[in-house]
Amino acid sequence: MKIISDVLELKTYLKEQKGKVGFVPTMGALHDGHLSLIKRAKEESEFVIVSIFVNPTQFLAGEDFDKYPSRDEADKKICEVAGVDLLFLPQIEDIYGRDEVSLSAPNIRGYVLEGATRPGHFSGVLTVVNKLFNIVNPDLAYFGKKDAQQLNLITLMVKQLFMDITIVPVDTVRESDGLALSSRNIYLSKDERVEALKISKSLHEASILVSKNILEAELIMEKMLEILQPLDVGYVAILDREFNFIKSVEIGKSVILVEALVGDTRLLDNIWI
Ligand code: PAF
Repeated sequence: MKIISDVLELKTYLKEQKGKVGFVPTMGALHDGHLSLIKRAKEESEFVIVSIFVNPTQFLAGEDFDKYPSRDEADKKICEVAGVDLLFLPQIEDIYGRDEVSLSAPNIRGYVLEGATRPGHFSGVLTVVNKLFNIVNPDLAYFGKKDAQQLNLITLMVKQLFMDITIVPVDTVRESDGLALSSRNIYLSKDERVEALKISKSLHEASILVSKNILEAELIMEKMLEILQPLDVGYVAILDREFNFIKSVEIGKSVILVEALVGDTRLLDNIWI
């Protein structure tokens, strides 16, 4: 596996590669969720690139940028074993200059849900993903459905900026008890991990209600909020796939999302119905 940190070196190296390039952008602390993205990329492309870059512009003041889990050597091993062809490991100076051209998240979709409590977060995400796309120039790029709003906004960016990149959404990977995998799960104490299960349980309950043809969003959210007690819930929301709030679930066209604080750890999860 080739490891490159320098942008120009990467671009020069990529000029010599043939075939479809599949790209998995990450912030490291890789887990089985990332592995499923890499596996899918390997199935669909000839050359697989993973980037690891903890992007400062998507963290707000007071968030966990400084203590974001970093496991450089373990991450390299995971990529190597998974058959990644190239690992891009830039430093902040490789990606950002002093006086930056900025890219803003859309005023509505970028500032609801996650964007309401973390204003500016998605501008940071879109800025770095745009930069990474320009550096790597992938044919396909892989993102987890767990970060549904991020996935939605990146898909929108690719469409609105006329980029020739196919965004591939990949299913959330869960522990056997239902907890969605996240790099932030390592912050959870034993008791918090038990509490965190309320998130996937509430989504499971929502899917049961839908299977019983109970489709009214308000009723489903009420039931979910009961299960989520006493967690500090950021939001429970039922949206269509374009991220508009809806009154009633439409099977095959909806997504149900939860964000909750467990101890000091903010966790996200959702199901696509
Ligand atoms: O989902 C992530 O890990 C990050 O938000 C991403 C897409 C790599 C951008 O920094």
